[in-house]
Amino acid sequence: MYKESWYWDTRYAEERRLPETGGHEWFGAFEDFAHLIRRELRSGIRGLVLGCGTSSLSADLYKEGVRPLVSIDYSPVCIKEMQEKNTGVPDMTWRVMDARQLQFPDGSFDLVIEKGTLDSMMVDEKDPWRVTSATVNFVDEVLSEVSRVLSPTGCFVSVTFSPPHFRSRHYAQLKYGWSVSCDTYGRDFHYFLYTMHKGGKLTPFDIERGQSLHKPYVIPDTMPLLLSNEDEDFLKDIQV
Ligand SMILES: C[S@@+](CC[C@H](N)C(=O)[O-])C[C@H]1O[C@@H](n2cnc3c(N)ncnc32)[C@H](O)[C@@H]1O
Repeated sequence: MYKESWYWDTRYAEERRLPETGGHEWFGAFEDFAHLIRRELRSGIRGLVLGCGTSSLSADLYKEGVRPLVSIDYSPVCIKEMQEKNTGVPDMTWRVMDARQLQFPDGSFDLVIEKGTLDSMMVDEKDPWRVTSATVNFVDEVLSEVSRVLSPTGCFVSVTFSPPHFRSRHYAQLKYGWSVSCDTYGRDFHYFLYTMHKGGKLTPFDIERGQSLHKPYVIPDTMPLLLSNEDEDFLKDIQV
């Protein structure tokens, strides 16, 4: 249901009705990954937050000097709430919009960031090794829009629980015109922060990873060794 706007509308309306539930900050708070993103922040850069939800990320970026700052979400309930909470804050706007159809001219932003938004779009997938073409295309629509609205030296930051062998291949496509790097943060459970620099180059390894997204999944060479061991029959069932 995370893929459906009605789900988020209902959830945000319920959280508003019961404020004691406190809402939800996906993948930790800004302080948890601020050390990884501060190098991208400069006062006066133009920012866009995709799928802002009721997270404090937009307010945190604004405090860091990212202004003007636009935050979008396709849930009208969420955007109404954030507009009310931030009435009169200069250079901070909230808009109902689908991340796949950004209503901004080319090159409008120096920083685009998402936290958990792409994850919610990929929630239908049963097997992260074999992503359906429907989801690949869905995510590509968002990434193509992000690439379009970024300035020639802009940067896209994506915060997720998805590790590089699953997520990098979506980002590592030559057509987006950016490089890809990944950092981790978190104590017990690790999260991943990807940084895509427009104008940067993909490494040959990244390019190969990106190409693997469009090829049928191949069982790694190590599997026959495991399969030939009769005492470890159960290993046949492990899809690593
Ligand atoms: C997992 S929540 C993350 C919320 C927030 N970014 C955070 O870190 O707490 C996903 C958010 O993405 C929004 N969303 C999902 N698909 C979207 C789309 N196609 N366009 C815009 N927003 C979308 C949902 O309404 C929801 O607010």
